[in-house]
Amino acid sequence: MIDDDFVNMVKELQKKIEREEEETYSKVVISEYRNPTNFGFLKKPEAVGMVKGSCGDTMKITLKIVEGIIQDARFWTDGCGATIAAGNMITKMAKGKTLQEANNMNSNQILDALDGLPKEHNHCALLAVNTLHDAINNYRSLGGK
Ligand code: FES
Repeated sequence: MIDDDFVNMVKELQKKIEREEEETYSKVVISEYRNPTNFGFLKKPEAVGMVKGSCGDTMKITLKIVEGIIQDARFWTDGCGATIAAGNMITKMAKGKTLQEANNMNSNQILDALDGLPKEHNHCALLAVNTLHDAINNYRSLGGK
């Protein structure tokens, strides 16, 4: 049986972790990674991108594309919280964009939308952008427009 001291210790630890997160990350980053609405894979996607970042973490993005417009997008990653936030943000931002507009997106736009990331996590936003671009490139290389 779990005693009250143990339960309280776990609760305190959880609060400590949450406080540290709030000191390190913006409110947007915390909300995106605690509730990543676009996490997962689309069934029968038109485009798939997968990139391994400089840190060794991987992201995968699947896209639904109709007449050159991104109708839907999902991401998956085994990376950190910042990567989850970046993946969720980029898939939200990509929806409704033409392939060209999405291909012109850069990591600064993701960092701005997230209200910044700690410097050592800027590469997480770059991983998200590179994965989106990889999906578009793969789609185009198969003749998609
Ligand atoms: Fe690896 Fe964020 S992508 S630390």
